[in-house]
Order: sequence, then C-alpha cells, then structure tokens
Amino acid sequence: MPPEPSASTPLPPGHVEVWWSSIDLSPAELDALRADLGEVERARISRLAVPDDRRRAVVAHGLLRRRVARALGVEPADVPVVRRCAVCGADDHGKPAVAARDAPEVSLTHAGTLAAVAISTAGPVGVDVEPLRRDVDWSSTRRHVFSAAEWDVTSRAADPQTARLWAWTRKEAAAKATGHGLAAGLERVAVGEAAGAGGWREVAMPADVAGTTAIRVLDLDLGPVWTAAVAVAGAEPPPTLTVCRPGN
Ligand SMILES: CC(C)(COP(=O)(O)OP(=O)(O)OC[C@H]1O[C@@H](n2cnc3c(N)ncnc32)[C@H](O)[C@@H]1OP(=O)(O)O)[C@@H](O)C(=O)NCCC(=O)NCCS
Ligand SMILES: [Zn+2]
Repeated sequence: MPPEPSASTPLPPGHVEVWWSSIDLSPAELDALRADLGEVERARISRLAVPDDRRRAVVAHGLLRRRVARALGVEPADVPVVRRCAVCGADDHGKPAVAARDAPEVSLTHAGTLAAVAISTAGPVGVDVEPLRRDVDWSSTRRHVFSAAEWDVTSRAADPQTARLWAWTRKEAAAKATGHGLAAGLERVAVGEAAGAGGWREVAMPADVAGTTAIRVLDLDLGPVWTAAVAVAGAEPPPTLTVCRPGN
C-alpha cells in the first residue's frame, strides 16, 4: 500500500481485475487515499458515524479510483464515479459506475478489515466479501437467501455452515453485477452447483431482473477468514481474471 497498480494499464478486453486490501493502513496511507476521493464522496464518507465504516469506504473507493484513473489516464479525484440504481433509477444510491467513454465496469465491497474492488472490461461486474466466521440466524435468514432445493444441497455438504456462506456470497456478487442487489431476491438467484471451466459457475437470474443475460460467478481466495466472489454479466467466453494486492 498505497495502491500503485502495477498490473496492465489499461485493462485488456474481456478481463476482470480484483484489487483487495486490508483497511488496517497507516494514517498517512489513509490520508493519501482520502485525498484521491471525489468531493461529494469524501463528504458522504465523513458523515459515517462508525470509524471503521469510514476506513472501509475510504480504502474501497480510493482503490477503485486509483485503478480506474490508471485505465483512463486521469487523476484519481477526477474519475467521474456516479451511482445508478437499477431498481428505481435514482442517482444517489445503487451500483457505482464510471461515467466516461470506454470506462471499465466497476464494483466494490467492504467487510470487517477488508476492502475489495473489481474492474471489468468483460461486462457488468459484482464483487462481494463476507466474513466466514459469523453466527447467522438461519431460521429467519434462510428463506431470503436460498430456495428449498438449494438449502437441501447445502445441508448435505460436509460443512453446511461454510457451504451456505460461500453460496450466499456468490449470490450477492451476481446480484451486484446486475445492480439489483438484494432487490433481486437472492432466493431466486440460482447458482450452479458445479464449477465449470476456470472455476466459473453459471448463474440463472430471475427473468424480470436480468432477462436472459448469461452471468457467471467465481470464488475468490482472499484468505481463510473470508468468503469472496466475483460475478460478470454477459461475458462470452468467460473472462480472464487477475487478483492483485496493492504493493505486491
Ligand atoms: C448492494 C448490497 C448487496 C451490498 O451488500 P453488503 O454485503 O452489505 O455490502 P458490500 O460492502 O458488499 O457492498 C456495498 C457497496 O455495494 C455498492 N452497491 C450499493 N448498491 C448496489 C447495487 N444495487 N448493486 C451493486 N452494487 C451496489 C456500493 O458501492 C456499496 O458501497 P458504498 O456504499 O461504500 O459505495 C445491498 O446493500 C443492497 O442490495 N442494497 C440495495 C437494496 C435495494 O433494495 N435497493 C433498491 C433501492 S430502490
Ligand atoms: Zn433505488
């Protein structure tokens, strides 16, 4: 850290880059990332009440801007990051996007001590990270995440809790790729049981959410205490992928 992407600039076509970082950075590194944010973004993040929420957001949005800036040949603070809600059309919430010609598609996630971003020339992208060790009240959560058949499959896994958390993360990544998020109805997002070529699984989204667009999702190994996945919509063939850590 701080992220000085050494990977290809700009991204090759049909490619997804995932950048991830701990949010436990030095004050100087955090200040530098904060300086790279846009004004509206900085003001929004400074209003977050919980210090860790501010750090997560600064690292995720800073990483995203730095990588996209390299792709577009502009300064990070000048990257035109906008939001577009796929559900209601509003521009003050929803999936982030870069409003520039030939800009890559983007997605970001932050949880616990980790922040990650995905930048894609392969199609709309969604990335999600969740802590692997957490208590979930499945009695109330289950029906919002899994179909009955999917629940049965996870129940037969050697470690049902781990299988469920990975399956949930895949669904969130897919729903973030289309921009619908939880409004897609995760229990209607069907992820293939078996991984295909390159580890990609096929996802069937509800037709009213994403039509017939092919969506694929891939598990990411970001260390033993996280579930993480990246999903891409409309990529044929499956995208190539690099996973990078700033400074490595
Ligand atoms: C997006 C969502 C899945 C995030 O879940 P999460 O695991 O708690 O959080 P993550 O850290 O993984 O992702 C958060 C980031 O996703 C992005 N995001 C927000 N809404 C998104 C959406 N609809 N699609 C894709 N990405 C979205 C944002 O960049 C956000 O971070 P930021 O607020 O710092 O910019 C969930 O919050 C959601 O679905 N929200 C919208 C629900 C809804 O009903 N929307 C309709 C409103 S009309
Ligand atoms: Zn909305």
